[in-house]
Amino acid sequence: MSKQKVIVTRKWPAEVEAQLKDLYDVHLNESDIPMSADELKCALQTADALLPTVTDQITADILSVENKRAKIIGNFGVGYNNIDINAAKAQGLVVTNTPHVLTDCTADIAMLLLLMSARRASEGERLIRNKKWTGWKPTQLIGQKVTGKILGLIGFGRIAQAMAKKAHHGFGMKILFYAPSQPAQNIVEDLQATRCETLEELLSEANFVSLHCPGGEATRHLINEQRLKLMRPSAHLINTARGDVVDSKALIKALKEGWIAGAGLDVYEGEPAIDPGFLELDNVALLPHLGSATEETRVAMGNRVLANIAAFFAGEEPGDRVV
Ligand code: DGY
Repeated sequence: MSKQKVIVTRKWPAEVEAQLKDLYDVHLNESDIPMSADELKCALQTADALLPTVTDQITADILSVENKRAKIIGNFGVGYNNIDINAAKAQGLVVTNTPHVLTDCTADIAMLLLLMSARRASEGERLIRNKKWTGWKPTQLIGQKVTGKILGLIGFGRIAQAMAKKAHHGFGMKILFYAPSQPAQNIVEDLQATRCETLEELLSEANFVSLHCPGGEATRHLINEQRLKLMRPSAHLINTARGDVVDSKALIKALKEGWIAGAGLDVYEGEPAIDPGFLELDNVALLPHLGSATEETRVAMGNRVLANIAAFFAGEEPGDRVV
């Protein structure tokens, strides 16, 4: 029997690519150059499975290409706001993602950004790299204490809960959360967490606000000028979710004018473009979308895609089906 044809849009960890080569008639992307819309359309017409990632915009236009051969889109990533899910559904395509395996590493990056922002780590490193450090001073780069402070989580899914564990059990932080559904009682009790009835309540009480909601139209600019003004002047905003959850222009204004003390960002509106306003500010720690960037996690993400398409080709329900 001939092998199924799969097309991978970006370079993946070598050990997962080796498995793909064994199992499928695979087209890998050695150059790692993102595919154009036309190339993505062609991939849907020529392969049984398209394996994109969070940087590929799989739009309704691409999905509606004539004469599709593909029946499944196995996204390499837990977030799937890069795919027009309604259009995929309308086209009868199955879409899967890669949950669970990146929970802890993404929560680690959120905690890292929280600490970097609170303790002014990026500023400190710049001081040294720019050869401007003249020695220890009692008043130099004074940041804020993290231990015992209030962490407000917007969204309370797996990654938020993993961050809450690290923050509560490791740093003695008090946990507030705002989420559409009520989590299991044992989780709330273990974290001694308090649910806020409104986003406004969380924003005005927390010392650190960390975003953990999905991206997309429903959460676009959830954090806007009006809401940033509700935060404490000493508070920090952390975003490891999706860039478009925050109105970048409003955040730049808030950081410039001191409505809040700092921010730590791993994701950006329209990334990889970054609003140049951020680059001029000292009180923002910037990382290049590193949430899941560990060897273990990226291999596990690839394996998750492999398991999803293998189940689909075997006529079974893929474990991580989103539509
Ligand atoms: C995801 O998986 O959604 C991340 O943003 C990339 O790891």
